Amino acid sequence: MADDSFRAPKGTHDVLPPDSARWIEVVSTFARRAERAGFGLLVTPVFEHLEVFERVGASTDVVRKEMYELTDKGGRRLALRPEGTAPVVRAFVQHRPTTPWKVWYLAPNFRYERPQKGRYRQHAQLGVEVIGTADPGVDVEVIALAAGFYRDLGLDTSLVINSMGDPETLEHFRATLRAYLLGHADSLGDDFRARVAENPLRVLDAKVPEWQDVIERSPQMTESLSDEAAAHFERVQHGLDVLGIDYTIDPHLVRGFDYYTGTTFEFQSSALEAAQNALGGGGRYDRMAEEMGGPPTPGIGFGIGIERVLHALGERQDGSDRLDVFVVDTLGGDEGLRLLQQFREEGLRADRAPTGRSMKAQWKAADRARATYGVLLAPDEFAREAVAVKAMAGDEGQAELPLTEVVGWIKERVEALR
Ligand code: HAM
Repeated sequence: MADDSFRAPKGTHDVLPPDSARWIEVVSTFARRAERAGFGLLVTPVFEHLEVFERVGASTDVVRKEMYELTDKGGRRLALRPEGTAPVVRAFVQHRPTTPWKVWYLAPNFRYERPQKGRYRQHAQLGVEVIGTADPGVDVEVIALAAGFYRDLGLDTSLVINSMGDPETLEHFRATLRAYLLGHADSLGDDFRARVAENPLRVLDAKVPEWQDVIERSPQMTESLSDEAAAHFERVQHGLDVLGIDYTIDPHLVRGFDYYTGTTFEFQSSALEAAQNALGGGGRYDRMAEEMGGPPTPGIGFGIGIERVLHALGERQDGSDRLDVFVVDTLGGDEGLRLLQQFREEGLRADRAPTGRSMKAQWKAADRARATYGVLLAPDEFAREAVAVKAMAGDEGQAELPLTEVVGWIKERVEALR
């Protein structure tokens, strides 16, 4: 039997270079966007008291069935974060910062799901939350931030939006929907009946083919909104129109958490398989702060799965893992080290092979590293206080340059290429 103990646990994976370079690109693209829109980075613990998640998601699969719970040696009941919003609201209630509080985050999330491509037991999310304003314009800003991020990466997405209304109308809708669905339960079986009993809203996003007909003809949330919720939703749509952001309204869009009130949205990608096609999603949760013992404070945000973004980007090479210069050192001493350091101090991506390798092996390493230039330190040239420089991609051979000029010479050319 193979020993799996020394492999990453099921549903998790390592990210190795050079793939990890794309991780950095995705994260820094997001960070730039978020900072430009006035968000500051928030870092919260990977685990929280169990209640933080139980309080806001007691009837959702993510909390009830998929959460990684643990008891620490002091007997505290804790959970690894299954999602990013509850910890942010917990931090808000704890620290009471001035509002609107605008934070962004990058954090791992843990869900005991059935692993498949795009669905893991640990996934990373980039997200933002704005706490302390019910302004529908903020819904638009938040959606625009996500849309801009996907655009920066060159990703095609489609945006679907919906409104869950306010809690009272949602309760009423839930009852209407339950009655409608139960009217069809006889033909659809026990699983269906159980799901309706648990939470009729959860039936709406079920992927079971035999249920789709009934789901499609089911009552629509957007038709039973209160006047206030309908007006808010109208203003969100208007704002999206003003910014030229395309969307479709999907009255059957229900997201996997019970905490949503009002606007909900999802960005989907046709580059991903249907069951895991959500590149990101979010919405309003105007009751959450209160549920955690804080003052009534509205909030809105979204989370974006980094792994899914990377899948959707595919195997694109962006060249960010290339080296600018590789130092081939046959002197085997201080000169190579000094030159390498000079390149790095000047902001170039520079590397070398460990000392003791043959010249041939070092040039090979320079090729493998996809370096733009190779610089050779060899006894003849060095006696003339010079080095040989080679453009790795071309076949122009080597040129000799004075040792004192080589750093500036390469820097100028590399910067012109960038
Ligand atoms: P969520 O829809 O559960 O929402 O997750 C957000 C995104 O994380 C998904 O759209 C997907 O890209 C990614 N994701 C979720 N589960 C997995 C998984 N098992 N494997 C890989 N990627 C996954 C939330 O978590 C909410 N906290 C979003 C939010 C923020 N709502 C308001 N503010």
